[in-house]
Amino acid sequence: MRVNQGVAVSLKDKVLLVPYESRHVERYHEWMSDPLLQEQTSSLPLTHPDEYAMQKSWRVDRDKLTFIICLPLTTIPSLTPISTADETTTGQVRSGEVDTPERMVGDVNMFLSDDDENDERVLGELEIMIAEKEMRGKGFARSALVTFIHFIRTHVSDILLEYSTPSSPTITTSSNPIPATIPPRNKLTLHAKISQENTASLALFESFGFCKTREEVSYFGEWDVRLEGFGEGGVSEIEALAVGDGYQELRYVEA
Ligand SMILES: CC(C)(COP(=O)(O)OP(=O)(O)OC[C@H]1O[C@@H](n2cnc3c(N)ncnc32)[C@H](O)[C@@H]1OP(=O)(O)O)[C@@H](O)C(=O)NCCC(=O)NCCS
Repeated sequence: MRVNQGVAVSLKDKVLLVPYESRHVERYHEWMSDPLLQEQTSSLPLTHPDEYAMQKSWRVDRDKLTFIICLPLTTIPSLTPISTADETTTGQVRSGEVDTPERMVGDVNMFLSDDDENDERVLGELEIMIAEKEMRGKGFARSALVTFIHFIRTHVSDILLEYSTPSSPTITTSSNPIPATIPPRNKLTLHAKISQENTASLALFESFGFCKTREEVSYFGEWDVRLEGFGEGGVSEIEALAVGDGYQELRYVEA
């Protein structure tokens, strides 16, 4: 999607999300060469050129929103401190400085599709991966998911509009306000498909209030968990997914 083009999202001393760019493909490709990660994320192994092609398509496809999860800005001592006073775009970070290969820990993404059972609703399938194994168990997935969901909630109108109108650029800034168009599908439900063996991922999503939609796993051996009431003022969503005052969207600029 283009909605996160040029946007980095910081959660204070927890995590930094940057858009998935070609500079990240080498490390990403290394990660995805691991058969276990392929299985856990239901991914197929790709050749080098295919990985680059995939990154390009994710950048612009109207149905895929992707961020690379990086170490938080507070771990770069030389970086100018950034005010966290409000939630608007008040600062900037440089690509190639905040997202070097050794600062990348994983990715978080959402795949959008029409809900066949409700013609007003779009389904947003979430996936998260902390690829660097020594970085697991340190709260990165929790922080990245909270930050990602807050970004989605903040930009839900833009996301649904971009999804519904494939040919129209939907970057909305103060100089390019949100068009008056109402997308035909104006509700978003977040869900995740989790392999029955993946107890860590299931525990993570359930701790945010995602609930199993069925008593049994699917034919593919996966749980489908949903966050009901998202974007409709659901209390559990707001309490479990609060980001506090550390959330900040920043311009992500070329070094
Ligand atoms: C699942 C995964 C994303 C968790 O990442 P992580 O950074 O280690 O998770 P966190 O440290 O943020 O922990 C968040 C929560 O996840 C759950 N969790 C994490 N590791 C767990 C484990 N080994 N066993 C059980 N629950 C676990 C817990 O609920 C934890 O919350 P708590 O610490 O308050 O108990 C990571 O293991 C991973 O990337 N696995 C491979 C890819 C994958 O399976 N992705 C999910 C596809 S949907």
